[in-house]
Amino acid sequence: MSKEKKPLSRGKKIGIGVAAALVTAAVVGIGVFYCTFFPNPLAKRIAPVDISAGEMSVTGESNVLIAYFSIANNRAYPDGEVDAVASASLAIREGKGYGHAELYALAAQEATGGDLFPIKTAEPYPETYGGAFDRHRSEMGTSHRPELTEHLDSVEGYDTVILIYPNWLSGLPQPVLSFLEEYDFSGKTILPIATSQALGLGSGPEQIAAACPGAEVVDGLSARSEDGVKEFLKRAGLVI
Ligand SMILES: Cc1cc2nc3c(=O)[nH]c(=O)nc-3n(C[C@H](O)[C@H](O)[C@H](O)COP(=O)(O)O)c2cc1C
Repeated sequence: MSKEKKPLSRGKKIGIGVAAALVTAAVVGIGVFYCTFFPNPLAKRIAPVDISAGEMSVTGESNVLIAYFSIANNRAYPDGEVDAVASASLAIREGKGYGHAELYALAAQEATGGDLFPIKTAEPYPETYGGAFDRHRSEMGTSHRPELTEHLDSVEGYDTVILIYPNWLSGLPQPVLSFLEEYDFSGKTILPIATSQALGLGSGPEQIAAACPGAEVVDGLSARSEDGVKEFLKRAGLVI
């Protein structure tokens, strides 16, 4: 004689549903925490010596300036490290590591023929995401302007500035403000381009406008690829 299966009671069904939701939330939460604070174990690995230091390239022949900040050019890598480094802030092209903002700046240079200016700090940021995050939060809190190591003689010859920054806590990294406040950008057109995990341009354009009185800050781009950057610059009429 077969025993008939009893249907689950409503209470049991709700209990199972709640337990499944809690397990899913815990798995997602642990995943987000891990991805935020720890390097991706599946990411490609690269030696610090193969990470771009960020080269300035100023010919004086273009009226377009491409300025960018990438943490990859501004990080302290442990002394004498021979092991490899992997990081969410690092894209690898032909065996060399670049910050995303730097890759977009190089794409902009290729498309426009503009001068290239890396924003670099005297005091490098900590290597870990958590360390960089803490330092940024403290610099924001004190409105600190980090000292820069690279400087332009003048920005007079430029009509257009393409400014490429990573979204940090929904705004600009403080070294970008150090750069903007060092020169007179009045009368110039500034095109903001942001790279981000998710939040796009954030309040970067407003911060740029506040730091550059008299400049025109046009609608920017939340960049996802080098081709996207080139397309944006084409629409802006800057591609040669
Ligand atoms: C200190 C810090 C704060 C960040 N804050 C945000 C944020 O608020 N929103 C976001 O979408 N991404 C955030 N990110 C992720 C960066 O935007 C992302 O790593 C960056 O765009 C990569 O560009 P890069 O390789 O040139 O550094 C943050 C990264 C760091 C290091």
